[in-house]
Amino acid sequence: MTDIHVEELGALAEATALEAGTLLMERLGGQREIDTKTSPVDVVTEVDRASEALIVARILEARPDDGFLGEEGADRPSHSGVRWVIDPIDGTVNYLYRRPDFAVCIAAEVDGVVVAGVVYNPFLDELFAAADGRGAALNGIPIHVSTEARLAHALCGTGFDYRAESRRVQAAILARVVPEVRDIRRAGSAALDLCAVACGRLDVYYERGVHLWDVAAAAIVVREAGGRAGTLDGGPLTMDSTWIASNGTLHLDFRALVAGATGLDPRPVC
Ligand code: IPD
Ligand code: CA
Ligand code: CA
Repeated sequence: MTDIHVEELGALAEATALEAGTLLMERLGGQREIDTKTSPVDVVTEVDRASEALIVARILEARPDDGFLGEEGADRPSHSGVRWVIDPIDGTVNYLYRRPDFAVCIAAEVDGVVVAGVVYNPFLDELFAAADGRGAALNGIPIHVSTEARLAHALCGTGFDYRAESRRVQAAILARVVPEVRDIRRAGSAALDLCAVACGRLDVYYERGVHLWDVAAAAIVVREAGGRAGTLDGGPLTMDSTWIASNGTLHLDFRALVAGATGLDPRPVC
């Protein structure tokens, strides 16, 4: 795959995310719920589907042999080694309620490894971008994780999925985490939570039950900003996995806390 240039993938992701973000802002307030997914409150709007269709179309115009995995159904094998992982609106419930925390997420994988990621919040006009070995930026300005070293002073983000049974488990985990940290934030977009860790607006983040499209683009932003992000057990992401991210300094202490809260072995994974 010597002819694949990470910069070109990143630039295509940025241009496409900006265009999809414009679509989101044009349709904000006028969208309808047209379907549901994992539960009656897990809604899909016309704009989720229109955004995904736009992203796939634009990328295919430029790179017709690439593959896709998108939350709203894009699923196409790659013939080039490149696959795009897309969440056309992360934070759909915020979008539905005209709250500012929603984003377009586009990650480029080469041979299964994410090499570039873009998370664009069109409401705030904030574009987080990172590429392998090239650092992370917010609107073109380099960003870094926080330097907080005390778990008891860490601001922690988290989220909940849409299934009541899963939320009972998530609530029990939260009850064990909240006394140990400065406070909790639940913004409603996993990708923006991760970007918040990347730029020091949060120190740590965890969530059980996220999907690859929620975290693929934002995780490289965290890592390139000097932080750590991945599954709690170091294994592949499944619906029973817990995703954690941190500023790096807090990682072992935070991992031990979340592992203990979820009933996993709190010792570090190698
Ligand atoms: C959701 C958001 C939310 C998180 C959920 C996700 P969606 O994605 O990221 O913050 O807690 O787990 O499913 O449905 O808005 O794309
Ligand atoms: Ca999502
Ligand atoms: Ca979504």
